[in-house]
Amino acid sequence: MNNKIKEFLKELRVFWVANDVPNITDENAEFLQWIVRDIGAKNILEIGTANWYSTICFASELTDTGWHITSIEFSILSHNQAKANIIEAWVESYSTLIHGQALDIIPTLEDDCYDFVFIDGMKRRSKDFLELCWPKTKIGWTIIIDDVIKFKAKMVWLYEYLEEKWIEYEVLQIDIDDWIMRIIKK
Ligand SMILES: C[S@@+](CC[C@H](N)C(=O)[O-])C[C@H]1O[C@@H](n2cnc3c(N)ncnc32)[C@H](O)[C@@H]1O
Repeated sequence: MNNKIKEFLKELRVFWVANDVPNITDENAEFLQWIVRDIGAKNILEIGTANWYSTICFASELTDTGWHITSIEFSILSHNQAKANIIEAWVESYSTLIHGQALDIIPTLEDDCYDFVFIDGMKRRSKDFLELCWPKTKIGWTIIIDDVIKFKAKMVWLYEYLEEKWIEYEVLQIDIDDWIMRIIKK
């Protein structure tokens, strides 16, 4: 990982712990960075930017490889913080930050375009995010949904949808309580 980005992530982590921002855990960040590296992701879509922490983690794996990250956030405060942070992290030219309701924006994105999708928005809408992101994700590539055990009670529709559509998934315990879901689009 680029050392400048690494140092900046450390600063952000301190700020966010102090301000109680719900960014991904260190364990999940490390694991998702490994996936991004392993699959050779070049075009990433994130639902739920917050202050851009998770996205900078992904970006740190993608430096110098002709990549792009698109991330959607509906809180103007978070969106503005994220905009400042991408400049600080020197990844502005590789990033598209969209301010708005992801449920409205995802349908406007290009189909069959993304090879890594990270769903980390409102937990009750995880099923809707997945359904909308499905046509946007390339076949054979990866969709990750965060907090699938911690907020399982809020994700009943997601689990029902996966069963109804016969979508295969793995639930992985990478950190103590959040857990993530990995889906490879077939
Ligand atoms: C858990 S935080 C994201 C954390 C971030 N991915 C990280 O790890 O640093 C969830 C974010 O999603 C945003 N969000 C939730 N539902 C959304 C929606 N429907 N459209 C856009 N943003 C949404 C919230 O405002 C919040 O900032």
